[in-house]
Amino acid sequence: MKRIRNTILSCLALPALAFMAVSCGQEDETEARIDELLSQMTLREKIGQMNQLSVSGFSQKVADDIRRGATGSILNETDPAVINEYQRIAVEESRLGIPLLVARDVIHGYRTVFPIPLGMAATFDPELVERGARLTAEEVTASGIRWTFSPMLDVSRDARWGRIAESSGEDTYLNAVMGAAMVRGYQGDLSDSTSLAACAKHFVGYGAAESGRDYNSTWIPPRAMRNVYLPPFETAVKAGALTLMTSFNDNDGVPGTGNAELLKDVLRGEWGFDGFVVTDWASAAEMIPHGFASDGRHAASLAMNAGVDMDMMSNVYSAYLEDLVKRGEVKESDIDSAVRNILRVKFRLGLFDNPYVDVGKALEVQYNDSVMTAAYRTALESAVLLKNNGVLPLDRSKIRRVLVTGPMADAPHDQMGTWTFDGQKEHTITPLDAIRESWGDDVEVIYEPGLSYCREFNSRGVARAAEAARRADVILAFMGEEAIMSGEAHCLADITLKGGQREMIEALAASGKPLVLNIMAGRPLVLDMESEIADAILFSFHPGTMGGPAIADLLSGKASPSGRLPSTFPAASGQVPCYYSHNNTGRPFRGDETMLYDIPLEAAQTSLGNTSYMLDAGFNPLYPFGYGLTYSAFEYSLPTLDRQEYSDGDVIRVSFTLTNKGKAEATEVAQLYVRDLVGSVTRPVKELKGFRRVTLAPGESSEQVFELPVSELAFVGLDMKKKVEPGEFSLWVAGDSASGESVNFRVIR
Ligand code: BGC
Repeated sequence: MKRIRNTILSCLALPALAFMAVSCGQEDETEARIDELLSQMTLREKIGQMNQLSVSGFSQKVADDIRRGATGSILNETDPAVINEYQRIAVEESRLGIPLLVARDVIHGYRTVFPIPLGMAATFDPELVERGARLTAEEVTASGIRWTFSPMLDVSRDARWGRIAESSGEDTYLNAVMGAAMVRGYQGDLSDSTSLAACAKHFVGYGAAESGRDYNSTWIPPRAMRNVYLPPFETAVKAGALTLMTSFNDNDGVPGTGNAELLKDVLRGEWGFDGFVVTDWASAAEMIPHGFASDGRHAASLAMNAGVDMDMMSNVYSAYLEDLVKRGEVKESDIDSAVRNILRVKFRLGLFDNPYVDVGKALEVQYNDSVMTAAYRTALESAVLLKNNGVLPLDRSKIRRVLVTGPMADAPHDQMGTWTFDGQKEHTITPLDAIRESWGDDVEVIYEPGLSYCREFNSRGVARAAEAARRADVILAFMGEEAIMSGEAHCLADITLKGGQREMIEALAASGKPLVLNIMAGRPLVLDMESEIADAILFSFHPGTMGGPAIADLLSGKASPSGRLPSTFPAASGQVPCYYSHNNTGRPFRGDETMLYDIPLEAAQTSLGNTSYMLDAGFNPLYPFGYGLTYSAFEYSLPTLDRQEYSDGDVIRVSFTLTNKGKAEATEVAQLYVRDLVGSVTRPVKELKGFRRVTLAPGESSEQVFELPVSELAFVGLDMKKKVEPGEFSLWVAGDSASGESVNFRVIR
């Protein structure tokens, strides 16, 4: 009865009445079919649906498991013929004919590899990211894979952590916007077999791993959890994410896979999530080494009672759940709820009606024009120009010889970045390929890599590159990190360029020739010396299959860079974690624009000199969040607001004029920041609340308006309730998080 009432309520919340009728009808029908299936299932068959196995190729053992209903989902098989055969066994030979759900980590593209998620976030272009996810879904579902373990929504503020590459960076809002775009793109409208179930992961706090070391404990207090780490997941659930994955870390002593409070009370209770929850790889069993579970049986009971529906690769559900139910330690009604959640997703994906793929067509969609064009466009928009003393765009009329050098100039595998099981390097276009192809006729391209991979020390190679530099008119040096240097379990203590790269950059600069650095990496790096001596720095993350043409077009000026940093770039490794949206100390850095306080002179004098400052690294990062240059220059007017005072429920209209003051057409990313000046708890010095890409011709001005609902200013304060606190706020619009002139407004009760 309770279930039916929930369905009706959620249907009433739908906007269009006609759609409501169809959708409610479908939902009721689905629930009725699930009821019928559940009534026929044995306890073992139910537990089988809750078990996920990793599979590679056809195996009789896996086939037998599927036939007897012992597994409801497989991951890692990609051959459409094998997937079809497993599906056939599930549908035609298992007792109840329940189709399999086939999963894969398709994190930033399938065959056609897009920039790493951190690079996608740098586009500040959610429509493009959504389109990329849709095309990726079309590419991968043609092989019968209907579930991806993406998007990763872990707010990541520590560049030492290798998985920052998989995130949308340090900001809660940006992670939420990009995550929702990916969910919409992957899943489409769930109307056909190109819909790919998204998985919001890792729930939750995994990005805050202590000291940036993977899998490490996190210490996120409940308020920060609510204000910083949970919102991207809530947004993904609202966007319709069909599944969610628990995280490896223990937060304040509770592993993600055993956290009933978050999985039951918050996810299901508060947010109304009706998809299913899967563990991370073996994370149920890993509660044993955590010291949270005493053995496999205990781990199964903890995960089950915390609200985890599917066990990925621990095998503790299949081994112990039946017995736990018999002993009364797990309720069969909870097993039924879990199976219901899983079957609901299988129905929503249309797997019962259409379980097979056309094997002959699977290859046709791979690397097609649409997906390659989207990958190119995303690589183009993700590259961030950090420095330019005027050498870019290159003036080809003055260049006869160009030196292409560095370990990333022709590294087709490495430029794809982490989590690219399925990208094929034969299809990758490197910068060397693209430069030869597009400039080769009128410019002599000298290729001398110097180092064959990023971590190599090779003084002779460096000397050869420096020698070649003397013969060239401009140096294009491609440096960075190999794909293997970031991603899961690939963390660093020191985030400067590795191997002989710094030595090589110094040797190239010593040639006196213009030095353009192109950096491809999986994380923010400390580029202190590089920023001093290079003439220009273009940071393109790991840009994927089409990285080469995108970079070549940016260097030549065919396009102007428009990416913005989704993460702060520190001035020294010891500054991390560093992020723009921090709280203030009582003794902030002098000169900070937020220092306009009316502090009694004596108090200010007591703290004279004692500020939150590092003697050897100062206070400021090298490049702030949101930063990125173009080949032009933009000017912002002071924003004007439609009112001075607002109440909850109002929308703040922020108007400003943006002018392209330079000589090239370019795209600016206008960013809206807010500061809540005084709260019941201390508030961040700034928070991103909106952004927009605006393309303007030279000299062109444009009137822009942001509409910011006052409700977006809500946060969880002292009483642990989320609400907007009345008082004074500052607001400004700028091209990065470290600039802009603010105006104030008040929120009244
Ligand atoms: C990772 C997940 C991934 C899973 C399945 C784990 O090691 O943490 O992000 O989805 O493996 O491959």
